[in-house]
Amino acid sequence: MAKFIVANWKSNKNLVEAQSWADGFAGFDFDHEKSKIIIAPPSPFLETVRAKLHDRVFLASQDISPYPAGSYTGAVSARNLSGLAEYAIVGHSERREYFSENHQQVANKVEQAISLGIIPIVCVDSGYISEQAMAIDSDLLSKCIVAYEPLSAIGTGNNVPVSDVTEVTSQIKQKFGDVPVIYGGSVTRENVSEYLLVCDGVLVGGVSLDLSEFISLIKMAERR
Ligand code: PGA
Repeated sequence: MAKFIVANWKSNKNLVEAQSWADGFAGFDFDHEKSKIIIAPPSPFLETVRAKLHDRVFLASQDISPYPAGSYTGAVSARNLSGLAEYAIVGHSERREYFSENHQQVANKVEQAISLGIIPIVCVDSGYISEQAMAIDSDLLSKCIVAYEPLSAIGTGNNVPVSDVTEVTSQIKQKFGDVPVIYGGSVTRENVSEYLLVCDGVLVGGVSLDLSEFISLIKMAERR
């Protein structure tokens, strides 16, 4: 089974930088049997990246509106994203912290995404797996990918031990069902292979910004 490798650029890069990253990635041959690459650029660059890489990678939005299409100025709805992104990251800890998102809003985002065929990548930390799962319509849980994202590991260089990922993955599966579980938090080319032994993929922040570092990470991931 191919492993998910999700590149989350967060709010970094301008248009020229996004174009040049995508141009560079277009020249890299990865193994589609081993890696399912999902790029999550800032929304304004989704089309740019898609135009250059659509036949090789999947696209994710870094967030999605909890509301349907309509009069919600500034929000990017599932309808806006349909045909543009196959996945949407929802409930990232940075959204929860800086934009005060709660479990119910995240659940609404899951519902919006799935209603238009976009697969939600639901981010959780170990302390609220059950609360987040309970907020989501039980029929929708099995349609999610879940990312275990320990707060202490995000952007800090303090990646968690692989044994934690094994344990939390089983807690996630108890609540969500047998969904794909990926790990995010200071994933590098040095540690990526260990995580891929115990879960279905990784969510990469900082290391995905630099094209050559990201490519090295994928190459390491494919050596497993
Ligand atoms: P990081 O970010 O790889 O920079 O730690 C991960 C994330 O936000 O999921």
